[in-house]
Amino acid sequence: MAFDLTKSDLVVAVFGAGTMGRGIAQVCAQAGIETLLYDARAGAVDEAIAAVGKGLDGQVAKGRMTAEAKAALMAKLKPMAKLEDARGAGLIIEAIVEDLAVKRDLFSKLEAIVASDAVLATNTSSLSVTEIAAGCARPERVGGLHFFNPPPVMKLVEVIAGLRSDPSLADALVALTKRIAKTPIVATDTPGFVVNHAGRAYGPEALRIVAQGIASPREVDELMKEAAGFRMGPFELLDLIGGDVTHAVMESMYGRYYQEPMYQPSSLLATRVAGGMLGRKSGIGFYDYKNANAVSPPTITVSKQPVPTALWIADEDGGRELATALEAAGIKTSVGGAPPKDSLCLVTPLGEDCTGAALRLKLDPARTVAVDMLGRFSKRYTVMKNPLTSAVALGSAVVALGATGTPVTAINDSTGFVTQRLLAMIVNIGSRIAELRVAAPDDIDTAVELGLNYPKGPLALGDMLGPARVLAVLDGMFTATHDPKYRAMTWLRRRAVLGVSLRTPD
Ligand code: NAI
Repeated sequence: MAFDLTKSDLVVAVFGAGTMGRGIAQVCAQAGIETLLYDARAGAVDEAIAAVGKGLDGQVAKGRMTAEAKAALMAKLKPMAKLEDARGAGLIIEAIVEDLAVKRDLFSKLEAIVASDAVLATNTSSLSVTEIAAGCARPERVGGLHFFNPPPVMKLVEVIAGLRSDPSLADALVALTKRIAKTPIVATDTPGFVVNHAGRAYGPEALRIVAQGIASPREVDELMKEAAGFRMGPFELLDLIGGDVTHAVMESMYGRYYQEPMYQPSSLLATRVAGGMLGRKSGIGFYDYKNANAVSPPTITVSKQPVPTALWIADEDGGRELATALEAAGIKTSVGGAPPKDSLCLVTPLGEDCTGAALRLKLDPARTVAVDMLGRFSKRYTVMKNPLTSAVALGSAVVALGATGTPVTAINDSTGFVTQRLLAMIVNIGSRIAELRVAAPDDIDTAVELGLNYPKGPLALGDMLGPARVLAVLDGMFTATHDPKYRAMTWLRRRAVLGVSLRTPD
């Protein structure tokens, strides 16, 4: 049976008038679709419709919407008193409690009420669409429409076809998504779909970096925002979403992918959640919201040194660009060959720690400092010491880079600094999503840009950094740690060695 959600007289019935349901109903009504809203709790629908009206009043007051448009939208939004009122609906969207049995029960009751060509869509984030559909007499008409919070603002909708969905169902849901002025991407029924899967890199790897004492949450956030251009740092994001919510998603993804090491949750976060340090909502998380002036000390105290007049740089990836920046700041550099006696030595490793780079290049570890040049970052530098780097060498490196006018963060030794680790993991998990055929490469990037607000999708990010360089970071991390969570995906490796875009399909 071919499903069609483009009919002009389509009626949408939304179940659950909470955070998501009311927003989804608003979006449908705004598109001029007759929209009905139901909730099991008495009074909830009236509250939701009143809240939608109040929100729109704010839009009208700000001149973002006309009073007529608001009135037209509200006229399309109607309460339902009982399930039977959904009889004429061509599309059901459920946004009720995240509980398999309750969702199955609702769908099986609605199946007996709606017409045979009506579509049943679930907004579930963490349940299987196929499993919800399996409770229905006709699973072929059940699919996923995964909106993001708040639905009126977030452009993305993930369309999910269950294993037993009719082949025409995804197309019908894509057309509906466009009709309500949202951007659809199609994902297979896999844990986390695209967005919640792709989001397993940023927070977890940042938590590992902090747990290992490499940098503080504030330093990691500064690097990701200023050096790597993200709108929010991972710890700001954790505090905004709530450690409890994020930890639950981490545990769910880890379990649903059967202890895949890449998705390993953080015991650091677990302890903080158990201690009530949830983030903004509890007043304290990785930042202290009750004491806005609280300053966190830097991870490393850097001794003041005079700006070095000359220094040596290893002739490796990014070394010459670093020399050019330092020369422009009036510092004489020599690149490659043997370092002059007593000279400060700068290395620019990919996926290697400062210790490893110093020993590999046969340098004196006490005089060696590493600089992260992966992204040719121009807004903040990272300098990294090894356990033997002298205070003089570190201080000299910090003032030398500071002389370029760019702020500098000093960190402890790490295979892949901070930004290399986070960016490589984002690209690697994006590659895994492509490898597992969760969605088409372009859809993966669109989903991450719109759903997670990253400056680029993971595959486009990998292309920008250079697939071969991202692969070098991952291989370096894997070699140094023997930790399977850093193994590069074959999707990435194959394209990197072929020298083609990570978005190249098979
Ligand atoms: P919520 O708790 O704000 O709202 C759920 C509403 O459903 C409540 O008003 C409740 O009274 C009602 N309800 C519960 N059982 C019902 C039933 N059997 N029949 C009718 N109404 C019932 O929850 P929220 O956050 O809106 O989430 C709803 C769904 O959307 C869940 O499946 C959730 O996983 C999913 N989701 C949530 C997102 C979020 O950021 N909050 C994002 C994307 C999806």
